[in-house]
Amino acid sequence: MGGLARLEIHSFRNISHCAISPDPKLNVIVGANASGKTSLLEAIHYLALGRSFRSSNFKPLIQSDKPETVLFGELASGASAGLRKSRKGEQQIKLNGKGVRGWESIARVMPVQLLDTTSFSLLTDGPKLRRRFIDWGVFHVEHAFLPAWRRAHKALMHRNSLLKWPGKPDTDQLFAWEEELAASALQITASRESYCQRLLTAFSQALHTLDKELGDAVALQFHAGWNREHDLAGLLRENRESDLAQGSTRHGPHRADLLVKSGHHRAVDVLSRGQQKLVVSALKVAQGELFFETREQRPIYLVDDLAAELDEGNRKGVFDLLQSLGAQLFVTCVHLEALGASLSDPVPGSLFHVEHGTITA
Ligand SMILES: Nc1ncnc2c1ncn2[C@@H]1O[C@H](COP(=O)(O)OP(=O)(O)OP(=O)(O)O)[C@@H](O)[C@H]1O
Ligand SMILES: [Mg+2]
Repeated sequence: MGGLARLEIHSFRNISHCAISPDPKLNVIVGANASGKTSLLEAIHYLALGRSFRSSNFKPLIQSDKPETVLFGELASGASAGLRKSRKGEQQIKLNGKGVRGWESIARVMPVQLLDTTSFSLLTDGPKLRRRFIDWGVFHVEHAFLPAWRRAHKALMHRNSLLKWPGKPDTDQLFAWEEELAASALQITASRESYCQRLLTAFSQALHTLDKELGDAVALQFHAGWNREHDLAGLLRENRESDLAQGSTRHGPHRADLLVKSGHHRAVDVLSRGQQKLVVSALKVAQGELFFETREQRPIYLVDDLAAELDEGNRKGVFDLLQSLGAQLFVTCVHLEALGASLSDPVPGSLFHVEHGTITA
C-alpha cells in the first residue's frame, strides 16, 4: 500500500494550515489561478524529497512573515514523515516520530512521481535530469546502488580537485582515484543498464497505450558516460592531459544519459509539445511500474495542470492510464471541466477546493 492517508501543511507558500485525509486513489484539487494548488503538490514533494520542483531555495517555500514551515504525512503503510524547516535554515526531519539526518529513509517510504509543466525538461534539458531520473529508479530497486554512487562521486571530486591543483598533479593520487572511480563506475553502470532495459519495455508498453504510432517511433537508449569498448581506468589515464587542460573529468558515470529518440533524431527535435508530454508521461508511468514490481507499492503521482498542452483525447488517455495503475493520484485543475471527459460524475475519489490557500473537501 502506497499513498498518503493524512497530510498536514503549516505555513507553506500561501497555505497557512491544511489537514486533509486524501483518497487512496484519486484526489482532484480544483481552484482558481494562484489559489494554492501547485503549493499543495509542492508541499508533498518537499516532504518526500527535501527539495521543491520550482525553487532551488527553501526560503520562498515558507509562508511570508512566518518563521518556519511544518509538514506532516501519515502513509497508508503505517509509516509517518515529518519536517520542520525554519527561515534560518534549521531543519528537523522525522520518520515514524524519530529524528533522521537525511532524506534517504523518507524517500524510501514515500516515493513520489511528478508530472507537471516543467516535466518537459526531462527531454529538453541536458543529461543531468535524465541521470537523476534513472538513478531514482535504481536507488529504489537496488539498495547497493547508493553506496556505489557515493564512492564514484567521492573519487570524481578528488580527481577533479587534483586536476585543478596549481602546479604538477600528484600522479600516484590521480592513479588511485581513477582506479576507484572505474571500479565503482562498473557497479553503477551495470545497475543503471539493467534498469534501463526493464524501463524500455515498460515505457514502450505505456506509450503504445497512449499513442500506438508514437510508441512505434520512440525508443530509449542508455549511454554509460564513456565508450565501453575502452576500460575506464585506462581511458582516464590516457585523457589526463586534456582533462587537466579542461580542469574536469570528461569520461565516466557522471556523464551517463538516457537518450530518447524518435527514429534517428532526438525526440525533442521532432516531436510536438503534446507528443513530448505523452513521452514524459509514459516514462513516469513506466518508472512507477518498475517500482511496483520490486517494492509492491506504487509511488504517489503528483500531476499538476494535466490539461496543459494536451488535447481532449490525450488528456483522457493520460488520465485513464494513470488511474489504471491504482496508484494514489493528486491531480490539479483550474476547473473540473478542464479534465473533461476524463472524469465521471461524481468524482470517484476526493475532490478538494482551494481558495486563497484554504483547502476544503
Ligand atoms: N512564501 C510565500 N508566502 C505566501 N504566499 C506565497 C509564497 N510563495 C508563493 N505564494 C503565493 O501563493 C499563491 C499560490 O501559488 P500556486 O502556485 O500554488 O497557485 P496555483 O493554484 O497553482 O495557481 P495556477 O493555477 O496559476 O497554477 C500565489 O499567489 C503565490 O504568489
Ligand atoms: Mg499551479
